[in-house]
Amino acid sequence: MNQIWIASTESTNSYLQEAGDSVKPHTMVISSNQTHGRGQRGNSWESEPGKNLTFSFYIKPEGILPAEQFIISEAVALAIMAALREFGIVAKVKWPNDIYVDDKKICGILIENSILGPSIYKSIIGIGINVNQTLFRSDAPNPVSMAILLGKDYDLREVAQIIGRYLDSYIKLLDKPDALHFEYKKNLWRGDGNKYPFIETSSGNRFFAKIADVERTGHLYLQSDDKFSRYAFKEIIFVL
Ligand code: BTN
Repeated sequence: MNQIWIASTESTNSYLQEAGDSVKPHTMVISSNQTHGRGQRGNSWESEPGKNLTFSFYIKPEGILPAEQFIISEAVALAIMAALREFGIVAKVKWPNDIYVDDKKICGILIENSILGPSIYKSIIGIGINVNQTLFRSDAPNPVSMAILLGKDYDLREVAQIIGRYLDSYIKLLDKPDALHFEYKKNLWRGDGNKYPFIETSSGNRFFAKIADVERTGHLYLQSDDKFSRYAFKEIIFVL
């Protein structure tokens, strides 16, 4: 994975959206200062300048249908978890694609896919990993960083190198969707068969359920007593 480091940009995802084909696929565009980093659900992504890795790269996958696009999330989440393990950090994936260590978030992923004709033509994959930041503003409810967990600072270039290597290997596995999906499900946060509290967004109902399955489409199945319910992203909230 090639790397381009830029001192400051609004958002590395937006940078790649605007750059079009002037940046080669599989190039990591990394900026240690995003002025308008974007998160999921229209949120912003907090990252203290110079402390963390905020980067994006894009791929032009072959033959992935829109209904199968969740496989890209799975591959990316697995790559991040594998890279963190190199540093001794055991992370899990909080469905659909937050990376958690215990009950804290160490990494967020924002994937923006473009569809052309029947398949995904281009996928911009934005990743924010908390590396050396130790104080977070209060609106981020449960952040953690490598430095908080391991008690020392890391060289951002070294971390980027290792993550790039794992991303390369996992992106190559996109043609083995069964294996990726199996490994993703094995690494689910709160996927241990116990019951946890959830809130259904539409009704506001709070209930206890266990994660029963994740479909290839990315839908989550929860089991509460004998009832199974199927949820899309944003339709269900994990209570921390
Ligand atoms: C989330 O809300 O959890 C997703 C956060 C994704 C943040 C990354 S940082 C690099 C890339 N550029 C952005 O503007 N967002 C993503």
